[in-house]
Amino acid sequence: MPKQLYRLEVKTPRHQYPIYIGEQLIHHAPLWQALILGQQVMLVTNQQLAERYAQQIKSSLADCQFDTLVMVDSEREKHLASVEKIFTALYQQRHHRDTTLIALGGGVIGDMTGFAAACYQRGVRFLQVPTTLLAQVDASVGGKTGVNFAQAKNLIGAFYQPQAVVIDLDTLTSLPQRHFAAGMAEVIKIAMVADADFFLWLEAHMAPLLQRQQTILAEAIYRSCALKAKIVQQDETEQGVRAWLNFGHTFAHALEALTGYQTLLHGEAVAIGLMLATKLSQMLCDLPETVVERTQALLQQANLPTQLPPTIDHQALLATMAMDKKVLRQRQRFILLNALGKACVGEEVAATILHKLFNWQQGEFLCQKPPSF
Ligand code: NAD
Ligand code: GLY
Repeated sequence: MPKQLYRLEVKTPRHQYPIYIGEQLIHHAPLWQALILGQQVMLVTNQQLAERYAQQIKSSLADCQFDTLVMVDSEREKHLASVEKIFTALYQQRHHRDTTLIALGGGVIGDMTGFAAACYQRGVRFLQVPTTLLAQVDASVGGKTGVNFAQAKNLIGAFYQPQAVVIDLDTLTSLPQRHFAAGMAEVIKIAMVADADFFLWLEAHMAPLLQRQQTILAEAIYRSCALKAKIVQQDETEQGVRAWLNFGHTFAHALEALTGYQTLLHGEAVAIGLMLATKLSQMLCDLPETVVERTQALLQQANLPTQLPPTIDHQALLATMAMDKKVLRQRQRFILLNALGKACVGEEVAATILHKLFNWQQGEFLCQKPPSF
């Protein structure tokens, strides 16, 4: 039996849409029938998820033209050529302006499908049906869509909100533990920037979370989505507070690009980025050392990496970070913490400080704030 555990609303100046969190939602035909407004549907997904769920969704929408596009959804495939495949399929199957795209998958499928929806015929409806923890707590909410370009992560994209987000907890049963842990990095991030009590709760509940105890997991997903929705509602297009959600991401995106989108999962790069950004906050904003220690402990408890890979060239990391989307008036901006749950935007961090930070990660620079700062 389908069970809706939570429902949230995301309200932006031009859009309002629900986030449903529950069990067996994908098997609930009335939900699909209520969400699909036109007569055409294009399900965009990967092979494994298509085999598991496409027939079920299709039979719930028997009155619609229903096409399924199976994509390769690795981070390396998140580029314009993949989005073009979605356009080609839509064009060849004669989808019109009243079609609906369903993004069934992780953040890669969601970001590419959302971007295709934003562009096809200047914008068609789309639904986010995230199937990784990372996509359920972050990527599917808030309307950022897009693809990587050359060495730059998510450089091409659009703000484009879905009609709804359907989070079916049961889809996570097939998710490998490494990907599940990667999603936890974004849960920890949102707690760090927006809710110190949630961080405390995560410290107390990480073990049952990693065991995927459904009620605890549902609460973590709900709290993450609610915090993100609140920030997106205040600042849909990242003119201000939404930038907090990029805490750790300047480092993470550069690390992903530098390692060819192959070695580190997005969430793993975020975990290393969170560690670096927390340490930088201690250096620049007097964030207490205990927060650095608690962050490291929580990330490690979640089985996430906290150290820069030794193969990373620091100069190359700095150069890649310069392509970050938060660079304004040629200035690199970093999201920092004044306290747990309180983020701010810092500017003008000298390269010498960043080199010291990277060396701290390599163990050469021990935790105390050096006199030169
Ligand atoms: P992903 O989409 O690559 O999925 C991870 C892996 O899990 C893939 O191999 C996928 O095929 C597989 N998978 C998906 N669902 C599964 C399931 N239920 N069972 C088994 N395997 C499954 O990665 P991700 O971690 O979901 O998302 C990362 C991406 O999201 C990055 O590209 C990142 O930039 C983006 N992102 C976007 C936003 C946003 O606001 N738009 C926010 C955060 C991250
Ligand atoms: N994941 C960052 C954002 O949605 O703004």
